[in-house]
Amino acid sequence: MNMNFILRGLGRYAPERVLSNADLEKIVDTSDEWITTRTGIQRRHVVADGENASDMAAEAARMALANADMDVSELTHIVCATFTPDSVIPSCACRIQEKLGIKGQMCIDVSAACSGFLYALQTARGYLLLEPDAKVLVVSTEVISRRINWEDRTTCVLFGDASGAAIMTAGEESDRPRVLDVMLEADGTLGDLLTVNGGGSAYAYKKDEPVGNEFFVQMEGREIFKHAVRNMVGISERLLERNGLAKSEVDVLLPHQANYRIIDAVGRKFDIPEEKVFSNIHEYGNTSAASVPLALSEAWDTGFIKPGNLVLIPTFGGGFTWGAGLIRF
Ligand code: ACO
Repeated sequence: MNMNFILRGLGRYAPERVLSNADLEKIVDTSDEWITTRTGIQRRHVVADGENASDMAAEAARMALANADMDVSELTHIVCATFTPDSVIPSCACRIQEKLGIKGQMCIDVSAACSGFLYALQTARGYLLLEPDAKVLVVSTEVISRRINWEDRTTCVLFGDASGAAIMTAGEESDRPRVLDVMLEADGTLGDLLTVNGGGSAYAYKKDEPVGNEFFVQMEGREIFKHAVRNMVGISERLLERNGLAKSEVDVLLPHQANYRIIDAVGRKFDIPEEKVFSNIHEYGNTSAASVPLALSEAWDTGFIKPGNLVLIPTFGGGFTWGAGLIRF
């Protein structure tokens, strides 16, 4: 592939409202000590009443457009990764388009849970190969707080709401980050280990009946942990090999933010020192598809990622889906 895939801009948004571990101690039988030591999470952001996935996505998109020095009217495609869209129909991408005040662009949602951003990025690369002049908004947005059973301590402490966005184009610009490669895999036979079945057509509700537990995130935490570390490491090694790169050439490891222990375990397997591993999980918890662009935008803005850095992004999520991406900043 001779085409350069340019990240023209990055943006992010997290709701103002914050729930600390101390706040959760008042809701379920948990403790700040348990949550911090098992996950690294100290706070998470939660949407306000009336605030939806598309509202957050539009905010992140506006920041990415400003960062790209582009007008919203220049966009040609909107690719949205989410498992918590505002509605089944219309797609979240269509809702985002409406909130951005534009019409005409093709709009599509991608469903790959926590690997969603890399899946969406790869989709965007495909569109750019077909239409090299395209200007693609790739946006991830999650309102997981509305798909959580707030009485279930094994899940409710882990997640948060947020959005992250990137503008991707093809071209020659050398002063902007370039997506070098993306590799994606999945194993549907393990799908039942992490589910949100409610709302799917196999789980039809009858009018006026209350929803059951299937409406909320359900998972086998320990099993996910093992698969996550193994697959994030494996696919990252294969991606580096395919690009003729050694582990030692990675400047920044920026994994999906599911649990600090997972992030730490992946870093150790790669022999990457802690100071080169980016994590903001203490502030946002697991924001599923939004976690990677939220982290990328923050790491770039704060100078954690420096110009010229090679950034490796391993992800893992429900499905199971997993992937790895390489970006040269
Ligand atoms: N507060 C206090 N105690 C708790 C809590 C809580 N919030 N949750 C569970 N416990 C208890 C359990 O009941 C259990 O008690 P028991 O020993 O009396 O039975 C004990 O703590 C240990 O539970 P484990 O599940 O074994 O704890 P573990 O160390 O595995 O940590 C965790 C659980 C944090 C969920 C971990 O397994 C994990 O992070 N797994 C990955 C899951 C994940 O990231 N899911 C997100 C989806 S993946 C993706 O991003 C799509």
